[in-house]
Amino acid sequence: MNSRSTGVTPPNGWRAFSVKKLAIKGGRIIDPNSGVDKKTDLIIQNGKIKGVGRLPDGWEGELIDAAGWVVCPGLFDMHVHLREPGYEYKETIQTGCIAAAVGGFTGVAPMPNTDPPIDNPGLVRFLRAQATGLPVEVHPIPAVTRGREGKILAELAELHDAGATAFSDDGSPVVSSGLMRRALEYTRMLNAVIIEHCEEPTLTNGGVMHEGRVSAALGLPGWPSIGEEIAVERNLRLVEFTGGRLHIAHVSTAGSVDLIRQAKARGLNVTAEATPHHLTLDCTALESYNPDFKVNPPLRTAEDVEALIEGLTDGTIDAIATDHAPHARDEKEVEFTEAPFGMIGLETALGVLLTRLVAEGRVSLTRMIEALTVAPRRILNLPQAAIEPGRPANLTMFDPDESWTVDRYRLHSRSQNTPYHGWELTGRARGVMGCGLAWLRQD
Ligand code: DOR
Repeated sequence: MNSRSTGVTPPNGWRAFSVKKLAIKGGRIIDPNSGVDKKTDLIIQNGKIKGVGRLPDGWEGELIDAAGWVVCPGLFDMHVHLREPGYEYKETIQTGCIAAAVGGFTGVAPMPNTDPPIDNPGLVRFLRAQATGLPVEVHPIPAVTRGREGKILAELAELHDAGATAFSDDGSPVVSSGLMRRALEYTRMLNAVIIEHCEEPTLTNGGVMHEGRVSAALGLPGWPSIGEEIAVERNLRLVEFTGGRLHIAHVSTAGSVDLIRQAKARGLNVTAEATPHHLTLDCTALESYNPDFKVNPPLRTAEDVEALIEGLTDGTIDAIATDHAPHARDEKEVEFTEAPFGMIGLETALGVLLTRLVAEGRVSLTRMIEALTVAPRRILNLPQAAIEPGRPANLTMFDPDESWTVDRYRLHSRSQNTPYHGWELTGRARGVMGCGLAWLRQD
């Protein structure tokens, strides 16, 4: 790794720009923070936004021609697995952040299912330090329970003092209702949030795909919708009982969307996310027996996909998060039932969402941007990346019209388990600015 001043070298085809004196010319600025949506210029000085508006004649400084591009607050992925420490052969903080930057993200929140699990302040600080010199902020989500064992609460106050604003045992649920009650009570005092992987293991044990007609036809063990919904329902009851704050990770079923919608209508302090894969793929993809479609929670039915899109549109689903879950090829390319759950998503999210949701008129561009920027930062209690004079330059630039084909071998993640290999997408990140650094793709 290079020093902080020069930063990590960007990947092939990308270039680091100085943010000392830089203008971005002619982009369409969309900032859901302020409701701005207009074509104009941006001036960046010493890593901060100096001005929004027409560039004065005779500009002397670095110039980025953003004609045809969208310029928005930096995308934030509030649910990723970067595998460090313990599984660095799948991903590291650095390779994951490079993949994030290439995908247009300026912030990520890595989950604690590492080895050892992220459950102490030292590890939180270590992970943050691993991102030094990259244009991507890392906000680790430490475990709710010690060692992610679901038995004793982790030192939540100490972790909070170390900067953690959310806790999760993601990858596994907090099975004990008593412990979840205590976690919600405790984090309410800290003004933090519990992010929960909603799964009732006695209903899902052994399941490898959505339980229904397709699993029956394929002869694969099912992971039924009720396995998620019963956990969502329990957790919502506990939120009501404790007055705590809960965020529901990777919502996958129409029933969960309904439960969350009703809970919000009752005024409960609950938020939710959906992944690009649950918003665009259904369980018929499993007919290929391709383990890259194996994910937890599983891909559901076309009706569930519709309900998630509706939930995203009406605000029941607040945020979009990738659940980027890298796995090595030799681990994935085994018998379907043996393969680990998970798919990578950082480099395809923007293109998939623009192509399948925005271009098809299912979700507005502004709502998509909001769900990838304002919503995750709000849920995690992080400062917003507003495009306003005086604010740090934390931006994503993307070309909504660029066509490209996903090639798993040309992605930057250390793993290649994407379900979108070979897909033709329209819309791709051109550059990011964050942490006092700017990276732009040159081709
Ligand atoms: O598919 C998944 N993979 N779901 C999870 O909850 C965990 C993740 C992983 O860590 O591989």
